[in-house]
Amino acid sequence: MKFRCSECGFQSPKWMGKCPQCGKWNTLQEVEPLLKKREFHASPVSLAEIEKEEEERSPTGIEEFDRVMGGGVVPGSTILLGGEPGIGKSTLLLQAAHASGVRVLYVSGEESNSQIALRARRLGISSDKISLLSEINLENILRHSQELKPEWLIIDSIQAVFHPEIDSSSGSVTQVRECAARLIQETKRKGKMLFLIGQVTKEGTIAGPRILEHMVDVVLYMEGEKRGFYRILRSNKNRFGSVNEVGVFEMTEKGFQEVRNPSLRFLSTREEASGSVVVPLMEGSRVILVEIQVLLTSSSFFPPRRVVNGMDSNRVILLLAVLEKRLSLPLFRYDLFLNVVGGIKVWETGSDLGLAMAIISSIKNKRIPDTLIVGEVGLGGEVRPVPFLEKRIKEAESLGFKRFMIPYEGEKMKKTSKIEIIRVRDLKECREILFGEKTKSHYIRKKG
Ligand code: TYD
Ligand code: MG
Repeated sequence: MKFRCSECGFQSPKWMGKCPQCGKWNTLQEVEPLLKKREFHASPVSLAEIEKEEEERSPTGIEEFDRVMGGGVVPGSTILLGGEPGIGKSTLLLQAAHASGVRVLYVSGEESNSQIALRARRLGISSDKISLLSEINLENILRHSQELKPEWLIIDSIQAVFHPEIDSSSGSVTQVRECAARLIQETKRKGKMLFLIGQVTKEGTIAGPRILEHMVDVVLYMEGEKRGFYRILRSNKNRFGSVNEVGVFEMTEKGFQEVRNPSLRFLSTREEASGSVVVPLMEGSRVILVEIQVLLTSSSFFPPRRVVNGMDSNRVILLLAVLEKRLSLPLFRYDLFLNVVGGIKVWETGSDLGLAMAIISSIKNKRIPDTLIVGEVGLGGEVRPVPFLEKRIKEAESLGFKRFMIPYEGEKMKKTSKIEIIRVRDLKECREILFGEKTKSHYIRKKG
């Protein structure tokens, strides 16, 4: 039996929109076979003892990876790694497995052993500590794991695995959840690491990794443009550390390279053209400087085109509306193309002001003089404060920025003679200073 009506209990082997017994709609739900009674025999432990245990964190040696994990992996924990197909999940875990130097069982339900070996060769990994198993039957996986006793068990991917006793196809909610539960039970008890790879598709599969989030200790997502070189590893949940850290990687011929100083990478190829602006983003506790490029061309469409890559397009459209209204710019006459360099995603409202100036710069075909711009823009065209100003400025200063345009309100800044700080109240003021419509000095009210 696969489906049961939550109203009247009617059972059916297939899903139906309407229950034929009670006539209610959308009440048929997939029935989960009861989990076998857990074989846990827990006994009370003192808090002090547990805390001691928690300190046992083993770094993998891939710093950017460890950083996201909160300093390394914690034995007995389960890590879910999600991301779109082709983003680099298998590559990252294979590299991390190798770097950790422990015994690893890498189970692949999607690729053959020779395919994985080919990837390993490309990564320059040849190790007798890593065993490959091409298998999708959960019972066989568990049996091999019990025989081999690896420190790390990697399941690539959890959607491919199926439990033969569960009458539901692999990848279904029931299968994914049940298989994950069995694997977690097995590894947790033995203090081993379990890595589950979960595929996320743009449309969102029925049994995406989301349904596993509550069962695991750490949830990591890998993001980035597949055609770009950069990937960001972000944690959505971490029982052992902060979710504020990100790892930055670059995909090369030989797998992932760590990017220790992301700002430098994203600016190194920067061309001083109109429509380009550098904004400082907070990624967790780190500042990353990224370049946003916009191009406005006269439009022959109505409505004009808005092609946005790497930012929330609703935010961009909102900003266009503010510019149109508050600065009387005829933006409806232009198509807009926006791109964030390096395939990074900019989600912070602190980039509003920079973007607004880039738009003006593109229309005027006049480049923005070397200035780091940060500030949120409100619907009235006012510039609002953003957090961590000092930190952002420090990072930019270390990369050679000398001039900063920041919100009038907000954090006091320590005075240094090496840099110029310009505080602005609204879009108009900012435009006038950057593109010189009035004398600058009038607006430099407060330094520091
Ligand atoms: P993969 O790890 O297979 O992605 P996922 O497991 O998330 O589906 O790798 C993704 C892409 O990375 C693949 O298209 C090829 C590329 N790649 C490199 O550019 N260099 C490399 O060294 C490797 C191993 C892969
Ligand atoms: Mg893969």
